[in-house]
Amino acid sequence: MAAPVVDRAAVDETALQQQFDATVAADRRIEPRDWMPEGYRRTLVRQIAQHAHSEIIGMQPEGDWLLAAPSLRRKAILLAKVQDEAGHGMYLYSAAETLGADRADLTDKLIERKQKYSSIFNYPTLTYADVGVIGWLVDGAAICNQVPLCRSSYGPYARAMIRICKEESFHQRQGYELLMTMMGGTPEQRAMVQDAVDRWWWPSLMMFGPPDDDSPNTAQSMAWGIKRHTNDELRQRFVDMTVPQAQVLGVTLPDPDLALDEETGHWRYGPIDWSELKRVISGDGPMNAVRIARRRAARDDNAWVVEAATAYARKHSGGRPAGEHA
Ligand SMILES: [Fe+2]
Ligand SMILES: [Fe+2]
Repeated sequence: MAAPVVDRAAVDETALQQQFDATVAADRRIEPRDWMPEGYRRTLVRQIAQHAHSEIIGMQPEGDWLLAAPSLRRKAILLAKVQDEAGHGMYLYSAAETLGADRADLTDKLIERKQKYSSIFNYPTLTYADVGVIGWLVDGAAICNQVPLCRSSYGPYARAMIRICKEESFHQRQGYELLMTMMGGTPEQRAMVQDAVDRWWWPSLMMFGPPDDDSPNTAQSMAWGIKRHTNDELRQRFVDMTVPQAQVLGVTLPDPDLALDEETGHWRYGPIDWSELKRVISGDGPMNAVRIARRRAARDDNAWVVEAATAYARKHSGGRPAGEHA
């Protein structure tokens, strides 16, 4: 009798998949050298790259105000904040590299519009009050999104998020403090704050992505432990956190339907214009072209720095490519 034919590769793959599933189910971390399903790796690279791109592109709207900050103190705060965002981008590109992605390639994909970044950064910053409102609402929304990611199933991503979240909470507080100061100022300053809130409120709610019934990847990402809550859950958490802060600040949120549901304790909000989100994500927001053109210029204008540093590293490593150790 012939011995049964065993497909060794298939058996190994099944065992590896079981080990992966058990690790995720036990809420332990997957590390770079662990086996992982190809879809998990691809989803993570896409999500981490999109997150990294958002940090880097997100430097632009506020960076526009660095030379026009109203005082040395405000300039120092804003500079620190914008530099933090650059650092966040760097941690995240490093996390993507542990999955086999190449940083320069990810940047090229961003510039060629093959990868996305957060829709929120495609809106302009019209006054200094926008700096405060971005800190309060945009960094506040980022915190709601990112705190659960500190428990992401992928180790390097989860660890990067812990430090990022600490810095995001500083960002939110500096924004709120700036707005409190302006609300205690002149009627013109108060009007600037209200105008900025009116412009940023709805785009901030859109930051959480499409509604759950139009978010096809959510179920798989939650099963993999990459995502911990749905878009609508996080959006609700943000609204519940923000409404009382708006009351303390003395601004009106531009939504006539906003009302406390006494039974659930949640603030109910009016319908979101999803066509606007689709338009902005597909490249047709007020600032998409400017954001990408600047990122492209930064890459091209600074290519010589990369070339010089690479040549220097090669010279001092005895001709081996940069990053390769003896
Ligand atoms: Fe950030
Ligand atoms: Fe931030």
